[in-house]
Formats: sequence, structure tokens, C-alpha cells
Amino acid sequence: MSTPPPPDLPRHVAIVMDGNGRWAKKRFLPRVAGHKQGVEALRKTVRHCLDRGIGVLTVFAFSSENWLRPADEVSALMELLALALTREVPQLQANGLQLHFPGKKQGLSPRIVQALQDAEDASASNQRLVLNVCFNYGGRWDIVDAAQRLAELGQPITEEGLNAHTALAHVGDPDLVIRTGGERRISNFLLWQSAYSEFYFSDVLWPDFGPQAMDEALYEFAQRERRFGKTSEQVEQERQIHA
Ligand code: IPE
Ligand code: IPE
Ligand code: MG
Repeated sequence: MSTPPPPDLPRHVAIVMDGNGRWAKKRFLPRVAGHKQGVEALRKTVRHCLDRGIGVLTVFAFSSENWLRPADEVSALMELLALALTREVPQLQANGLQLHFPGKKQGLSPRIVQALQDAEDASASNQRLVLNVCFNYGGRWDIVDAAQRLAELGQPITEEGLNAHTALAHVGDPDLVIRTGGERRISNFLLWQSAYSEFYFSDVLWPDFGPQAMDEALYEFAQRERRFGKTSEQVEQERQIHA
């Protein structure tokens, strides 16, 4: 697999990390074993983003709808988050990562909310890679939350105003959205922000995702022509002017 040329690299990659349960089931393991292996896959993916020079990585770790899962799985996922916060954050910090946890804080335990806040505060001045871990996140919640804030401030509802109050306002929109695990749907991820993202669906289950699978997505991204509503000829002309 050839490496995509740097100019065509996405600046911001978002990933729906799906397929942990099926990965575990195939091995006759409990679903939580798949989630644990999923943390490993995320660690590898972060390292690869650093190697490739990607500026922003946004991952979907727990959706607003995932509360509907069996209670023991939900609490295992909460425990895993708490564990990852203690174990991983110092290393991520040392590697120059700026951490954010977009998502609704209501419903999470005060201990976790505090740990999320501490990790964000401690890493706020890091510049190497912005990592957004979307936890208790839903695209519809994000839009409604931003609209409510505008209303509270008495500000007009404009695209720019609403955008400024969304959970990913600190980074631009994702250039590339990857979903692993074979499903071809967005499952209430970045509804507002993915208006012009390129989508890439991989059949690889998230715990098996690694540098090679990521490079395949980056390679495919480099082949796409992003037109943002314009014609192919206009895009080509602009490319020549900027070359
Ligand atoms: C994604 O893997 C992780 C979360 C949604 C928390 P799944 O747990 O959805 O795995 P599958 O889709 O059942 O295989
Ligand atoms: C999406 O996966 C959410 C995360 C990866 C965190 P799901 O497994 O919850 O999505 P559906 O239910 O199959 O659409
Ligand atoms: Mg799933």
C-alpha cells in the first residue's frame, strides 16, 4: 500500500469505532473483552496519526443511545473509560496530545466528569494532535445544545453562531469519517459537522484496526475529489491557481 502524498492527507479524521462486540463473539469472549481490545486499537491509531502528521482525531466511544445496552455492559464501558483516564492520560499528555471529551456530561458519574475535566485542563496547551473522545455524544444532542445556548444568550440562530456552540467548535469539520465494523450508517455521530466529509466504510472490526487499515482509508481519501458544490472543472482550475 503506497503512502498518500502529504498534501492530500486529511487534517481531521473522525472514526466510528464499531465492531468490538462481534470481535469478542467470534472468539467466544464476553463483549467487554472486545471493548478492552478496542482501547488497544485506539492507542495504535493515535500513534499512527502522530506518525502521519494528522492534526485532529475524533473518535466515537459511547453514543447517547448506548445507554440502551444491558446495564452490565454500560457499567463496564464506564469503568473502562475511568481506567483509560488514569492509565493513558499521562502518556497522551507526554506525547503532546490535547484532549477533549465532547458529549453530554449529565448522566455521567461526578467522578468521571471531574476526571474528564482534569484531563482537558492538563492538556489544553498541547499542540501536536487534538484527540476528541466523544463520550455520551449524539449528533442531535449537539445541535439542540448549541441552539439552546444561542437562545440563552439571546443571539440570532445563524449557521456560524450555531457552529460556534457545537461540541467540536475548537476544531474544523472532519475531512474524513471512517466507520469500522461493516455497517454503513452514521448512528447519530457528527450530523452537523459531517455535511461535507468524505465517508469511508471498512469491514475490519475495530479491535483489528491498525496502521495498515488506516493507510487504506487515507489512500482512498487522497483519490477523492472534494467539490463542495462546485463543478469538477472549477475545482481543477482552483487547484492549478494554487499550485
Ligand atoms: C462499538 O462496538 C463500541 C461501542 C458502541 C461502545 P460495539 O459494541 O457496537 O460492537 P458490535 O457492533 O456489537 O460488534
Ligand atoms: C455507534 O455504534 C456508536 C459507537 C461506536 C460508540 P453502535 O454499535 O452503537 O451503532 P448501531 O447501534 O449499530 O447503529
Ligand atoms: Mg456496534
